Amino acid sequence: MDLIDLRSDTVTRPTAGMRKAIAAAEVGDDVYGEDPTVNALQDRVAALLGKEAAVWVPTGTMANQIALGSLAGMGEEIICDRSSHVVNYEGGAISALWGAQSLVVDGPRGIFTAEAVRAVLRSGQTDHDPRQRAVAIENTHNRGGGSIWPLAQMEAVADVAHGAGLAVHLDGARIWNAHVATGIALQKWCERADTVSVCLSKGLGAPAGSLVATTRERIKAIRRLRKRVGGGLRQAGVLAAAGMYALDHHLQRLAEDHESARRLAALVPFAWHAPQTNILLADVQNAPALVEAARKEGVLINAVSGTRIRAVTHLDFHLEQVEEAAARLRQAAGRI
Ligand SMILES: Cc1ncc(COP(=O)(O)O)c(C=O)c1O
Repeated sequence: MDLIDLRSDTVTRPTAGMRKAIAAAEVGDDVYGEDPTVNALQDRVAALLGKEAAVWVPTGTMANQIALGSLAGMGEEIICDRSSHVVNYEGGAISALWGAQSLVVDGPRGIFTAEAVRAVLRSGQTDHDPRQRAVAIENTHNRGGGSIWPLAQMEAVADVAHGAGLAVHLDGARIWNAHVATGIALQKWCERADTVSVCLSKGLGAPAGSLVATTRERIKAIRRLRKRVGGGLRQAGVLAAAGMYALDHHLQRLAEDHESARRLAALVPFAWHAPQTNILLADVQNAPALVEAARKEGVLINAVSGTRIRAVTHLDFHLEQVEEAAARLRQAAGRI
C-alpha cells in the first residue's frame, strides 16, 4: 500500500524537471553576490512582490527572523498573533536572537483586527514601555488552517501600525496560495508590508529556499544578519535554480491543491474548519489516536493539539488520490 503523506506541503520531492534545472544551474559565490542564478531569482521575486530588492536564504524561519531582526532589537517589541509561526515554531528566535519580545493578540484563524492592534499600542513615552517596532502578519495562516486575510483587513492593520510608527512584516511563506486562491496580485498583498518573507519549499515544491523582499536600503542590513546567523551559502544557485523552476511550473497549479483540500473535506465527515487553501484542520475527540489509526491505514496526518488534526495537500498528492485518501481516513475514524 502506497503511503499518502498529508503531514505538510514541505514533504514534496523535487520533480525530474526540477532536478534537471538544479543540475544545469550556473553558479558563483553568493556571499560575494556573484551567483547568477541566485541574483536572477532575487530580482525576479522582488519584482513579483513589488519590492526593490530581495535576498535568498535557505529557510522560511531564517527569512522571518532576519527580517524581524532588522526591525526590532534588545528590549523592543513585535506585535504578533498568538498562533503565528514566528511565535510558536521558530524556537523562540525573536527573543533568543534579537532580544526582542513578542506581544500577542488574538484573531479568529490567526487573523486579527486593526482594533486589536490599536488596543495594545503603547505610548512609548514612559520609562516603563518596551519600544514597539513592528506588527507581524501571516498570510496564509498556517495554524489558522491556511486561512486568507481579507485584503482590506490586512491594509487596515498595516495602516494602524504605520500610523503609530511601527513597521509591518508579512510572513508570506504561503502568500502564493493566497494569490492563487483569490486572484489578488502578489504586489497588492505585499504593498503595505515593509518586509515580506516567502517560501519556495512549501506548495511550490523546491527542496529549500526562501526570500526576504524589502527596500534596497534595508536589504543591506538583512544581508548582514543573514551572514551573522550562518545563512551565507556559497554556490546556492543549485537551490535557487529549483526555486526558479518552481515559479515557472508550480505556482498556478496551487489551485489543484486547494481543490484537493476542498474535495477531501467534502468526502470525510470530520468537523473541518472551512477549507480556504491547502491546509485542512478538523476538531476531533482524540487527535493522537486518529493520527495513529490513519497511519495504519496508510495516511500520514498531524495532530496539532490533543483534539485537532491537520492535513495538507501538495504537489505530490494528486486529485486522483483524493478518493483513496478519503476512504482511508473514514476507515481510520471507524477504528477508534
Ligand atoms: C507560515 C510559515 N512561516 C514560516 C515557516 C518556516 O519555514 P521553514 O520550515 O523553511 O523554516 C513555515 C513552515 O512551515 C510556515 O508555515
